[in-house]
Amino acid sequence: MRSRIIAEIMEEYEKLQNEAKAKQKERIEKVYSKIPRIKEIDDEIKKLGISMAMAVVSGEQAEKIIQETKEKITNLKIEKGELLSFYKISLDYMEIKYKCEKCKDTGFIGSEKCSCFKQKLIDKLYQQSNLKEILKRENFDTFDISLYSTEIYPGEATSPRKNMERIFTDCLNFVQNFDNIDRSLFFYGGSGLGKTFLSHCIAKDLLDMGKVVIYQTAPDLINIIKNSRYDDNSQREVIEDILDCDLLIIDDLGTEPNSTGLSQLELFNILNARLLKNKKMIISTNLPLEDFDSIYAERIKSRIFGSFDVYKFFGDDIRIKKWITKSSVS
Ligand SMILES: Nc1ncnc2c1ncn2[C@@H]1O[C@H](COP(=O)(O)OP(=O)(O)OP(=O)(O)O)[C@@H](O)[C@H]1O
Ligand SMILES: [Mg+2]
Ligand SMILES: [Zn+2]
Repeated sequence: MRSRIIAEIMEEYEKLQNEAKAKQKERIEKVYSKIPRIKEIDDEIKKLGISMAMAVVSGEQAEKIIQETKEKITNLKIEKGELLSFYKISLDYMEIKYKCEKCKDTGFIGSEKCSCFKQKLIDKLYQQSNLKEILKRENFDTFDISLYSTEIYPGEATSPRKNMERIFTDCLNFVQNFDNIDRSLFFYGGSGLGKTFLSHCIAKDLLDMGKVVIYQTAPDLINIIKNSRYDDNSQREVIEDILDCDLLIIDDLGTEPNSTGLSQLELFNILNARLLKNKKMIISTNLPLEDFDSIYAERIKSRIFGSFDVYKFFGDDIRIKKWITKSSVS
């Protein structure tokens, strides 16, 4: 399965490169038809390049010719730059533009996989492809703080708004200092309070920064591991992905079937291994902490509470709020 997916990804890269080249060609043609002098300059630069190469081969007065040609090329480039500026065209308009500048849409930097390759692989292997669509809707820019009430919430010392402002700021900090912090995040609280939304905000920014992110609900994550068990090789690769990604988001912890026993062990191993490697995670759950106490073994709890910053979400269910607003409008 992996090799089929890798072949698919390599085809996508080839397509991306071809598209990048075609778009560059279109832009160049546009410029040439608007400013014919630039075509002359480009042709001249090409010719000079060839004559310089020939001088090197023949060896006759090579040094002098190379020096002179280089100067001519520089002058032509200056003229080209001035023309582009005059027509208010950006200087890199005629350059090729890749989706990923790091690997130039090849998927590799030298012999190393680029992070965009790793992410594509993960998205396909773990059915995360729809995540991109969700992240267009749920991100720091669309986060709406006005959904949280400013009234002090019963049983709490502050309002949901104040509480969320603090959580929001900490999440922004988490993203901005991602490479320098070794704390993970633990979100808990009632349904419909933005725990998944905030995990999405963080995922979006980190993906944009070229980090590799796995987002899975606890039951799906455990299934992924269980299903890979039939083949040693694939299990090793799956575990490697889960342990190596820059951020692992485990959503809806506590909804996995049989929270005791095998899945607990599975979960503990992941948490433990990632923490040992100083790799960050976000875990969210709507279990109250008391329930957490009775479901999860002491060692999972001490792992979580020792290395995670714990945030409580409280307030009125936003799902219901949004639904009421929608139904009163229509
Ligand atoms: N800050 C926000 N701005 C805009 N929409 C929000 C915000 N927070 C949550 N929502 C919306 O409210 C709904 C519930 O949010 P979300 O799924 O994040 O809740 P949750 O805390 O993860 O709940 P659960 O515990 O049931 O998983 C979603 O439709 C989400 O898009
Ligand atoms: Mg959720
Ligand atoms: Zn890349």
